[in-house]
Amino acid sequence: MLLLRRCHSLTRFGPLNTQRLQVAPAVASCAGRLWSSSSSSEDQRSYQRAHGPSWRHGLAGLLAGTGAVLAYGLHHHKAEQEDTIRVQALEKTSAFPIFSQEEVTSHRSLEDGVWVTYKGGVYDITEFVAMHPGGDKILLAAGGALEPFWALYAVHNQEHVLEMLSEYKVGELSAEDLKKQKTIQTSDPYSSDPERHPVLHINNLKPFNAEPPPEILSDSFITPSAFFFKRNHLPVPPVDPASYQLMVEGLPGGVLTLSLEELKTRFPKHTVTATLQCAGNRRSEMNKVKQVKGLNWGIAAISNATWSGARLRDVLLAAGYGPDVAQRALHVQFEGLDKDVTGTTYGASIPLNKAVSEEGDVLLAYEMNGADLPADHGYPVRVVVPGTVGARNVKWLGKIIVSADESSSHWQQNDYKGFSPGTDWDTVDFKSAPAIQELPIQSAITTPADGAVVDRSLEDVTVKGYAWSGGGREVVRVDVSLDGGKTWQVAQLKSSEKGQAPEPSPPPGRAWAWKLWEVTAPLPPEAQELEIVCKAVDNSYNMQPDTVAPIWNLRGVLSNAWHRVTVKIREDESEE
Ligand code: MTE
Repeated sequence: MLLLRRCHSLTRFGPLNTQRLQVAPAVASCAGRLWSSSSSSEDQRSYQRAHGPSWRHGLAGLLAGTGAVLAYGLHHHKAEQEDTIRVQALEKTSAFPIFSQEEVTSHRSLEDGVWVTYKGGVYDITEFVAMHPGGDKILLAAGGALEPFWALYAVHNQEHVLEMLSEYKVGELSAEDLKKQKTIQTSDPYSSDPERHPVLHINNLKPFNAEPPPEILSDSFITPSAFFFKRNHLPVPPVDPASYQLMVEGLPGGVLTLSLEELKTRFPKHTVTATLQCAGNRRSEMNKVKQVKGLNWGIAAISNATWSGARLRDVLLAAGYGPDVAQRALHVQFEGLDKDVTGTTYGASIPLNKAVSEEGDVLLAYEMNGADLPADHGYPVRVVVPGTVGARNVKWLGKIIVSADESSSHWQQNDYKGFSPGTDWDTVDFKSAPAIQELPIQSAITTPADGAVVDRSLEDVTVKGYAWSGGGREVVRVDVSLDGGKTWQVAQLKSSEKGQAPEPSPPPGRAWAWKLWEVTAPLPPEAQELEIVCKAVDNSYNMQPDTVAPIWNLRGVLSNAWHRVTVKIREDESEE
């Protein structure tokens, strides 16, 4: 609050250029802190960090290009008429000069000045941009309206940003041009996102990020698609299956282009059961140790599905992959069709050897749980990289590039990396850490829930959960304690649906699916409360760390400490 007031006082100054020049850096740094202290979306924060101080991205986020987002435009006739009347009235009373869109558009560079419009106001942000070089996104909006950008990033604390922006106001847009602008401006870039199941717990609505209630996870070995956790960084792109084309680049055969039909018919269909886990799963436990930046995921940013599609290996071979390529290339990059307003797509890469290995089981999946991929999960085609962090399983796949380099995407370079608990946002160097690929051993208790009450008359308590390890390492044991880790018992592991015969053990190094587990134990006679703990072991004898603090990291990724829930025992009233 103090910070907020300080920022306000910093922004309250007159329209004179000299004053602006003096205070702008202080304003900027305040804005950065305001944003990063908000509870806004992970994307917004990480995006801001990747491209420089967060104020710049906030402002960049405010600034509108006219490109991709305009496609979302809707015509709001009534609102438009009201706005026109308002602006016409303003034109008569405003102390500011009136500018045409043409005049605004002529200010698109540092030389000519950088102007933008917002809600009928015209802003000259030249000095602001000049003082903060490297804000590469800002100039994209020069000469245009910023509303579409605003809609895409759904920036929180927008009033503070607007307050800063107001200091740069130089005029009003003519009523006629404002009316034209309204007819093409975006309403909501997320308006074509699909419907979702109401049971999902929403961590962020736009972009959509949600996890199922934990107890649903342990109900079935295969997570029904509607309940599968959803993690989107951008709006879901509407893709027409008839015109869909997948491009494969960077191989001697030149660019290979495949339609959906070709992908389905030219290559054998493979099915793999694989668990996907977001790097931020269980981040909320890190938040309890010390605040991290990112969506506050519980224990259910993980799910298990069957995926069917062409093997990436087969497609790369068809596109000209051979041993000579392995001499020069090390990575396979993926680009999604989901874009931000600047046209930048979601992207990630995986090591080439994982992509081409027969044992890697990497799929270009077009089916999930026996049906077409749902829109949220990447329709019509996504990459499924078994054993690898969710972030590399690129959805709405548009392009594959075999390359000497990792993906240059923000999500590969400046996010989804682990750091020491001693590293903070002032000292972090994203280049110093490798991109997360295989995930570590993980397990969690899905039932009973933390804080649940168990009746003494039941005599037993049944504890259920999931366990999984990255890189194809098989979970071989889950230990469960009812007394905070003093004594342990071994849980029963399940690798098939209830009532079905157990699946045969996967080949070594290819255990892609989780194991559900369960243990039923007598309630300890004296206990009034149980601290239930679980920890898993994989076939490399990797085990989970016992507490969160030593693995805490500023981004809250790789949270895999022993999972603990506290349960109260209710004594029978008759015995009291
Ligand atoms: N692919 C694209 N194109 N866009 C995205 O936002 N999110 C990634 C990955 N692939 C993402 C993407 C992340 S961070 C995760 S954890 C998984 O998708 C989530 O997959 P799901 O939504 O199918 O569970």
